[in-house]
Amino acid sequence: MTVEYQFPEGFWWGSAASATQMEGSRNGVSGETIWDQWFENEPNRFFDGVGPHQTSDFYNRYKEDISNMKKIGHNTFRLSLSWARLIPGGQGEVNEEAVTFYNNVIDELLANDIEPFVNLFHFDIPIEMQNRGGWESREVIAAYVDYAKIAFDLFGDRVKTWFTFNEPIVPVEGGYLYDFHYPNVVDARRAIQVAYNTMIAHAKVVDLYHQEQNGKIGIILNLTPSYPRSQNPADLKASHICDLFFNRSFLDPAVKGEYPEDLISLLEEHGHLPETQLDDKDLLENNIVDLLGVNYYQPRRVKAKDHLPNPYSPFMPDWFFDNYEMPGRKMNPYRGWEIYEKGIYDIMINLRDNYGNIESFISENGMGVQDEDRFLKDGRIEDDYRIDFISGHLKWLHKAAQEGCNVKGYHLWTFMDNWSWMNAYKNRYGFYSVDLETGERTAKKSASWFADVSKQNGFNA
Ligand code: BG6
Repeated sequence: MTVEYQFPEGFWWGSAASATQMEGSRNGVSGETIWDQWFENEPNRFFDGVGPHQTSDFYNRYKEDISNMKKIGHNTFRLSLSWARLIPGGQGEVNEEAVTFYNNVIDELLANDIEPFVNLFHFDIPIEMQNRGGWESREVIAAYVDYAKIAFDLFGDRVKTWFTFNEPIVPVEGGYLYDFHYPNVVDARRAIQVAYNTMIAHAKVVDLYHQEQNGKIGIILNLTPSYPRSQNPADLKASHICDLFFNRSFLDPAVKGEYPEDLISLLEEHGHLPETQLDDKDLLENNIVDLLGVNYYQPRRVKAKDHLPNPYSPFMPDWFFDNYEMPGRKMNPYRGWEIYEKGIYDIMINLRDNYGNIESFISENGMGVQDEDRFLKDGRIEDDYRIDFISGHLKWLHKAAQEGCNVKGYHLWTFMDNWSWMNAYKNRYGFYSVDLETGERTAKKSASWFADVSKQNGFNA
């Protein structure tokens, strides 16, 4: 049988998840993260008042979950390590129980022919590190590099694909601009410093990895193609600045080893350049990534501002553009995000043409759905909308691969429904649903569909 959308041989089929979202912060021995702290301070800000200890319990059920991954044809799976679990307090003694847990998970994945992709940081800084200044502090960067070294030494013999950060812009936006992550600061100057320091931490860890290990190391970025409302110069400028802030402030240093000139001039003009150190420039230049994970959910639609910002209001990226609701855009009615499948192709073409065709893969893409139980039929969630969502994106990814983009795989967010920060269990994304009372996992319809896709290395429309 011929397969209409056939992917290159060896394509990575899998899914992604993160430590804090699936392990359960009170399972086993672990230090606390900013999430434990924030939940303790302000439980009401979490959907239904559910905090980071009530997760899908991967900590105790990882064997069953990995066997389910195998059933649906995963050949790769991305997890993150919890820094606070591995080294409670962020620095100092390693928690042997955590070492055993992560060793077990890695070995179990390998025994099931699933290659582990390991990410060092997914939004969950240990509270002690945050209290010492978080990513604003060079001391914390040094502690993060020590943590990376410990992780490489412990697991690098079996893990050959590593990532320094997942979506580093999210803690910047959430923690320092728009108040949806701890420490709930709203201050662009500090946000810019955090963004910059994160890339310094990233480059130091890439450097360390290349000196001591022999696999690949990359970063995972949520790229949101920025589309202008019109071709009029003011809209084009607005969209360009949005792209500089939300994509290129991480993409360029990670892949090209330098910041875009336009971004530097803009920050300089407004007196908002971050504090730097002498050897930072060389560090960034000499430590570009081996591969790039791309998380793609939705694009940004951008227009010029209707009104000039009040010059006395504090500087914010939003001074330069407004978001724009394009008439007729397709929406995910169950989450409120735009669905624009071609965005995945535009990202890949941009990487091919402007970023040296860096090796990449879709490290997250997925469809969140509220109240998903309404689609239960005979005990299974009939999530045809998710199948449409995935296949719609895969068609464009296939086209990108055919046109020479160096794209190596597709991972869904996420393997099973999981706790998601402030949104807790509001939006469900998994191939498997999880009964929050009993912990029971049930494959959704999309899980069997994806099993066929990975088996055939492609699909028919
Ligand atoms: C991704 C994050 O961007 O979005 C995940 O990497 C998160 O950690 C996911 O869970 C879904 O977010 P939400 O808000 O729809 O639950």
